[in-house]
Amino acid sequence: MITVSECELAADGKPFKLITLQNSNGMQICLTDWGATWLSCQVPIKQQLRKVVLGCSTVALHVVQGAYLGASVGRFANRIANAEFSLHGNHYQLDANQQGKHQLHGGSVGFAQQRWTISEQQANSVQFSLFSANGDQGFPGNLEAKVRFSLREDNAVVVEYSALSDQDTPLNLTNHAYFNLDGESAEQTALQHRLKINAAYYLPVDAEGIPKEPLKPVANSGFDFRQSKPIAQDFLHDADQKIVAGYDHAFLLDNPSLGVQPQIELSASSGDLTLQIFTDQAAVQVYSGNFLAGTPNRTCGVYANHAGIALETQALPDTPNHPEWFKYGGISNAGERYHKTTVFCFKAN
Ligand code: BGC
Repeated sequence: MITVSECELAADGKPFKLITLQNSNGMQICLTDWGATWLSCQVPIKQQLRKVVLGCSTVALHVVQGAYLGASVGRFANRIANAEFSLHGNHYQLDANQQGKHQLHGGSVGFAQQRWTISEQQANSVQFSLFSANGDQGFPGNLEAKVRFSLREDNAVVVEYSALSDQDTPLNLTNHAYFNLDGESAEQTALQHRLKINAAYYLPVDAEGIPKEPLKPVANSGFDFRQSKPIAQDFLHDADQKIVAGYDHAFLLDNPSLGVQPQIELSASSGDLTLQIFTDQAAVQVYSGNFLAGTPNRTCGVYANHAGIALETQALPDTPNHPEWFKYGGISNAGERYHKTTVFCFKAN
């Protein structure tokens, strides 16, 4: 079932559109057209609905917080070093919105900071579209981006990004939801969750989050999540974590596909809810909410650090400056449709 309504006024003077999808188990997700943002997610557990993604008390607050809660991030999620890159011999200077130096999440008016259009709606899904003109935030090519959110009967949220550009361009689209499977207002931080990631390599970064060396094996480090373990177990144990105050790294998935095995599994500390993530994206940025403190929460208070964990499926950061990583995605060719799907499947245990 879908319902579409309007609420508070957005920065453009028009109301936010609110879209609610509900399945026959009573699971409900709420989205808004601003930033094509996933606002909330309520999962039925033992006859009760549990809110499992972080969010704010109003939509107006939600879309201005700086943590990208639930937003659709583009044109290039994550960082581009020194806000510049060269492609086919042309140099491009991008909007530098991280410390006036690097570009983070597509620039200061990226896809998360714009109103998308509702381009399709069905009983269990909604599609948003956005046009990004040649030169937008410094990127080449006119680009049409779309995202479809569907709520399935098996309590899975399917997020499908597609796009088409008329010039070759960096492109890396992801959703930036933060999960807390104990409930977003739980005492327990997400560090008490168990996490499993099928990834043998991660990408070390410098203090500004810029890749500083090649992909590195996770073996014998706190980055080894190939067997499920509590996130807290090896938290801050490695120099590569200390430099960015926790996990804030890309993990290269061993076998990205939408097949039967999830690439990532997150479980509530109580063990009563598991999130399985299936994706055809090459990597996942694991961000343990190291700087979440002060972000407005749903009850007019603020979240603490690590209140949620973001599991952002995407290409590797700074790919436009690393041709050796083009094979993992991150550059989209003119006239070739980009299509990436991530399935977030919630299972009560
Ligand atoms: C980045 C973090 C950043 C957060 C909020 C994450 O995707 O990896 O470094 O603080 O987004 O912008």
